[in-house]
Order: sequence, then structure tokens, then C-alpha cells
Amino acid sequence: MRRAVCPGSFDPITNGHLDIIARASKLYDVVHVAVMINQSKRGLFEIEERIDLIRQVTAEFGNVEVESFHGLLVDFCKERDIPAIVKGLRAVSDFDYELQMAQMNNGLSGVETLFVPTNPTYSFLSSSLVKEVATWGGDVAHLVPPVVLEALRERLKKD
Ligand code: PNS
Repeated sequence: MRRAVCPGSFDPITNGHLDIIARASKLYDVVHVAVMINQSKRGLFEIEERIDLIRQVTAEFGNVEVESFHGLLVDFCKERDIPAIVKGLRAVSDFDYELQMAQMNNGLSGVETLFVPTNPTYSFLSSSLVKEVATWGGDVAHLVPPVVLEALRERLKKD
């Protein structure tokens, strides 16, 4: 089984994330989506809600497993025998930090990082921007899957 992991905060998953996961799912037998638990930063969505949304929008791929993790990503990989991390690169500005993480992760455990160039349609897209635009009533329908749009509307209605 060739395995890879797509890690992130996914608060919430966007079309940009989904594009990378879809492409990884064609290259690997199993793609693990690892949702990072960050105890010092409360997100808009709880971890279980993020996992539920990701499961719904990746179900059609048939080879995606979604889990949360805390601690080091390399430990998540080691425990599941995952040799590769797949990351999307949106622009040159992503590269510096991503390169540092890739080199650190490789130095820690030998895990490889593969960078996938983001679909240019989503080169400006991030979960933070989606939340900000949606908070102020902007249209994000073309940036997130319909089920995520609905969840955003519900969540922002409550606040
Ligand atoms: O969606 P994000 O917030 O940009 O994802 C960042 C993430 C989760 C990929 C990164 O912070 C990470 O891998 N965190 C796990 C902790 C870890 O392994 N840190 C060392 C990285 S070299």
C-alpha cells in the first residue's frame, strides 16, 4: 500500500485543499488527511466538525481516511507507516516556510515531502480569508464545497 498524508488545520476545508487531496488520491493507494489539534488556538469549527466536513467531501474518492492528530506530524507518519507528506504550494510566499518544515521533517524521520502546485484558480485561497469574507457577508460559494458553505452560514448565524 502506498500511503501519503495531507496535513493541515482545515478550519474549514476549502476547494484548494480539496483539489490537492483529490490529486494525491490519484497518486497514492491511501491518502490520510491529518487534522492538527492546536490547543492554543480555538478555531471556528471544532475538530470533529472539521473531520465530518472533510469526510463528506472526500467520500467520493474512496481512498481517503480522515483523522485528527496532535504532536509531531512525523510521529503520525511513523505510527501509520506513511513515507510521504503531500502539500500544496500556492505561491512563492508559501515556499520558505514549507521548505523549512520539509527539511525538518526529513531530518527528524526521513519522511519525504512532495509539493503540488496549486490550481491557479485557488492560488489566493486560504481558510482564514474564507472565514473573514464569510463573516462580513461576502460570497464564498465558489471557494468551498456546498456542505462547507452551509456549515459556515449556520456557524456565522449563531455568533
Ligand atoms: O493548515 P496549516 O495550519 O497551514 O497546517 C500546518 C501543519 C499542520 C501542516 C503544520 O503546522 C504541522 O505539520 N504541524 C504539526 C506539528 C509539527 O510536526 N511541527 C514540526 C513541523 S517541522
